[in-house]
Amino acid sequence: MAAAAAAAASYSSTSWRVRPGLTPFRSPLQPHPQGRVQRIAIFATRIRIATPSAAMQSSSTRHRLEAVNHDHETIPERLAVVTGGNRGIGLEVCRQLALQGVTVILTARDEKRGKDAVESLCHESNLSNIIFHQLDILDGNSRASLARYINSRFGKLDILVNNAGVGGVAVDQDGLRALNIDPRVWLSGKAVNLIQSVIVQTYDEAVKCLNTNYYGLKWITEALLPLLKQSPSGARIVNTTSLRSELKQRMPNEKLRDELRNIDIWDEARIEAMLNEFLLDLKNERLEEAGWPTMLPAYSMSKTVVNLYTRILAKRHPEMRINCVHPGFVNTEINWNTGIIPPEEGARGAVKAALLPQDGPTGCYFDQTELGEAW
Ligand SMILES: NC(=O)c1ccc[n+]([C@@H]2O[C@H](COP(=O)([O-])OP(=O)(O)OC[C@H]3O[C@@H](n4cnc5c(N)ncnc54)[C@H](OP(=O)(O)O)[C@@H]3O)[C@@H](O)[C@H]2O)c1
Repeated sequence: MAAAAAAAASYSSTSWRVRPGLTPFRSPLQPHPQGRVQRIAIFATRIRIATPSAAMQSSSTRHRLEAVNHDHETIPERLAVVTGGNRGIGLEVCRQLALQGVTVILTARDEKRGKDAVESLCHESNLSNIIFHQLDILDGNSRASLARYINSRFGKLDILVNNAGVGGVAVDQDGLRALNIDPRVWLSGKAVNLIQSVIVQTYDEAVKCLNTNYYGLKWITEALLPLLKQSPSGARIVNTTSLRSELKQRMPNEKLRDELRNIDIWDEARIEAMLNEFLLDLKNERLEEAGWPTMLPAYSMSKTVVNLYTRILAKRHPEMRINCVHPGFVNTEINWNTGIIPPEEGARGAVKAALLPQDGPTGCYFDQTELGEAW
C-alpha cells in the first residue's frame, strides 16, 4: 500500500497530535466547536439567534438568544431541513417529503447546485413547498445563518434529515469499475482484498470523513436543536447511517463491539476519544492489528458513531423521535454509481423515519424502511 504509506508519511509533517483517549479530536478543516456551541435560553416559544461575527470565533463568546417577534407568513404544519439535498438520496428525500405536504428547506453547500436542485424539483414534480438555503455543515457561520433564518421566518423546526456525507477514501474509479465487483461481495464486506489496488484509505480522507459524517452532523444538530425543541408535535431527527456500521461481522474488535452495544457508557467525549484512537492506529498502519474495520475503515467508523450519537440523543430527548437509517445500496456518487437501487427507493427509509407518529420508535436503526439490528 505505497499510497497509504506515502499518505501516512505526509501527516507526520502536519501539526496533528493525536493521543488515544485523551486529546479531543481537532480537525484541520474545522476547529472543534467546544466552547462555541450555542448557549440557548428560550423565552416563551420565540427565540433569537445572534448574528455570527468575528466574535463568534472567540471561545469566550456566547450566542445570545432573545425574545423576538415573528411577523412571518403562515407557519407550515411541518417544516423539514434536509442536509446535502442537492443530489442523490437527499434530493429524493426532499421531493418525497414535499409530496407529503411537508415544507422542505433543501440545503446544499454550493448555492448554485442547491438552487438548481430546488428549481428542477419544483418544475418536475409541480411543487411549491421547497425552499433553498445554503448550508455547509462544516462551516460554523453557515450553520448559524441557517438557524437564524429558520428562527426569524418560522420560529420552529419539525424534521431534521441529516443526509450529507462523504465516502472518505481515495479511489481509482476506472480501476474500480474494471473490477466489476459483484454487489453481494461488496455488501458482505468481503471485497477488502479485491479493492486494495483501487481504493485507498488515506489519513486526510479519513479526517474529512469523520468530520463530515459525524462531527458535521452533530454540529448542525446542535445548532438546530433549539428550533427542534419548539416543534409542537415533537421533532423527528433522521441520521443517515450505513450497513457498514452494523457491529456483527463488521467490527472485528470483540471488546469494543461489546462496549458499543452498551449505550449507557457512551457520551460525546468518549466518542471523540475512540475516534482519536482510531486515527492514531490508522496513522501507524495498525488498523487490522487493533481490530478496527478494514473495509472502508473511516466511513465505517463514522457511521458507527452516528449510531451511537443517535442513541445518546434519543435518550436525552424522549419527546422527539430520533433514529438512524441505512438507505440501502443506492446508485449515487458516493459509491461511484455502483449501487443497485435508485435514489427514489433509497429515500424511503429516511422519509418514513421523518414522518413517524408520536408513539413511533426512537433510538432505533432502520434498514431501509424496516427496523433492523446494527448493534
Ligand atoms: N448511496 C449509498 O449506497 C449509501 C449507503 C449507505 C449510506 N449512504 C449515506 O447516504 C447519504 C447520502 O449519500 P448519497 O448516496 O446520496 O451520496 P451523494 O450523491 O454523494 O450525496 C452526498 C451529499 O452530501 C453533500 N455534502 C457532502 N459534504 C457536505 C458538507 N460539508 N456540507 C453539506 N453537504 C455536504 C454533497 O454535496 P455536494 O454535491 O456539494 O458534494 C451531496 O449533496 C450519506 O450520508 C451516505 O453516507 C449512502
